Amino acid sequence: MRTQFCGELNASHDGQEVTLCGWVQRRRDHGGVIFIDLRDRAGLVQVVFDPDRAEVFSRAEQVRSEYVLKITGRVRPRPEGTTNPDLPTGTIEILGLDLEVLNASETPPIQLDSHAADASEELRLRYRYLDLRRPEMQSRLRIRSRVTSLLRGVLDRQGFLDIETPILTKSTPEGARDYLVPSRTHPGEFFALPQSPQLFKQLLMMSGMDRYYQIARCFRDEDLRADRQPEFTQLDIEVSFMTEDELMTLMEGMIRELFQEVLGVALPDPFPRLTYAESMRRFGSDRPDLRVPLELIDLADLMADVDFKVFSGPAQDPQGRVVALRLPKGGELSRKEIDAYTQFVGIYGAKGLAYIKVNDWATKGSDGLQSPIVKNLTAAALDGIITRTGAEDGDLIFFGADKASVVNEAMGALRVKLGQERGLLEGDWRPLWVVDFPMFERDAANQRWAALHHPFTAPKEDQIDQLESDPGACLSRAYDMVLNGTEIGGGSIRIHRDVVQRRVFKLLAITDEQAEDRFGFLLRALRFGCPPHGGMAFGLDRLVMLMTGATSIRDVMAFPKTQTAACLLTDAPSVVDETQLKELGLRLRPRT
Ligand code: AMO
Ligand code: AMP
Repeated sequence: MRTQFCGELNASHDGQEVTLCGWVQRRRDHGGVIFIDLRDRAGLVQVVFDPDRAEVFSRAEQVRSEYVLKITGRVRPRPEGTTNPDLPTGTIEILGLDLEVLNASETPPIQLDSHAADASEELRLRYRYLDLRRPEMQSRLRIRSRVTSLLRGVLDRQGFLDIETPILTKSTPEGARDYLVPSRTHPGEFFALPQSPQLFKQLLMMSGMDRYYQIARCFRDEDLRADRQPEFTQLDIEVSFMTEDELMTLMEGMIRELFQEVLGVALPDPFPRLTYAESMRRFGSDRPDLRVPLELIDLADLMADVDFKVFSGPAQDPQGRVVALRLPKGGELSRKEIDAYTQFVGIYGAKGLAYIKVNDWATKGSDGLQSPIVKNLTAAALDGIITRTGAEDGDLIFFGADKASVVNEAMGALRVKLGQERGLLEGDWRPLWVVDFPMFERDAANQRWAALHHPFTAPKEDQIDQLESDPGACLSRAYDMVLNGTEIGGGSIRIHRDVVQRRVFKLLAITDEQAEDRFGFLLRALRFGCPPHGGMAFGLDRLVMLMTGATSIRDVMAFPKTQTAACLLTDAPSVVDETQLKELGLRLRPRT
């Protein structure tokens, strides 16, 4: 139907007759001349209609925003003084010779120009097909498509096989609730949608496939956040006969190539590695944003004997932690700003946020400190704090004291917030690996051990003997890739011997009977010559979110769900017919 895309036209097309198809971004009447900005996937171009061609002109008068047009016209330079340097096609315009309205449009409920982002997300999701017409959204989906195509290319070249795995399957535990699908042919029984293809990809290694990948949809019924969706996409990978170092080298090479090709960004080679323990100690998080040049500094030894219970309590508690966070030039913070940060750490359970403003330590010593807590601390403790944090006059030191888990969460989040709000970020892209995760974490609510990664992750070889005697001390062969504070991928070397797998299940309080019932197929497969294997999965939506500068993964998915896991466009989930329920052998309980 067309000869070119609107957005591709430039001065080199001068004098050519072109036929274009697209949507009306805007129509303006300028004293007898009509301007139409015509938009397609490639961009905008300005079309001008003169009254000389009366019939075409009167058709042009009828069109409104989002009408679909086919226009034939001649490319010409814009008159002196009317070029638009902000528009790629801004040096030319089309003199309209013919116009056909291919379709009309009702007045769009959201504006598609630069004010589009002002529309509520609810409206944007309900009219997603209009929202997606916006250049910003088109560009994000285009980048997403480039990302997947490039990743496929890299993996194809490395000999990976793209293999699909079932969507209707059995539960694969990744720590979330399952989405269940009732079976009609087996009344009373349910499929679970996969939380990941984890067990199938392991079975593919046992099938001798050696290198597998899949761009796989995963389903997790969990509390949603800006970087979590109930249905999301992983680049899922598994290999046989590779050590974690070999796999990690391959994976970071792939991500480096991706950034180079798509964004022209050279990521570090190799990525730095941090152990989980060091990451928690320095950043209070296992996905540290390395762009923030602030660190948590332990003070428990200095605070164990002070009179101030808020500090000495956690300092003496083996589960406790006391840290300082020095904010260079933080002396400028107002009382109001400090109060806001205090409220912020409260979200993470912190009971307060003590601070010291170092006004003039150099000449006045403790008299030069401004703080609600100096009176509670000994001179030796104050001296220790200043020395250890390296604080200088003009700085501010924040303190967190509580259970280590609370301090890590609260002060780790404060660190990132300060970095962003105080303009401290260093560098644009700071990837790293986090390694040496604990095998298990204590599930306080249920008084038992839970797998930190998933139950198929292998323990360090030299710690297998310790599994039962000291589970809390066992480290796993898991690794996460973190970029700018977001976990973009994670994986591990797997357990490939059934005895070890059974021991881990037992530790996780999964009885032999439950293990047989839920994972019998895996345990059986492990006994038929299972190769050593491992893999990882990247959160593709998160990766693309970071690469496009979007702030929510919803902005890089064509049809995402809301925070309450609903689709506003189609109104799913929805009520079903009584007959459908009956066929499935289901009856709804009255809502209470
Ligand atoms: P994991 O559960 O860490 O590992 O998931 C891998 C990556 O997927 C992304 N991700 C999500 N993205 C959007 N919404 C969600 N709800 C969501 N949950 C996870 C994250 C995460 O790093 N089977 C293992 C991988 C393996 O061991 O090979 C797994 O699924 O970016
Ligand atoms: P209080 O003794 O409650 O008046 O607290 C004195 C100072 O310590 C205040 O600035 C509080 O914000 C701060 N504070 C209280 N609890 C904690 C805590 N757990 N961690 C860090 N600071 C705290």
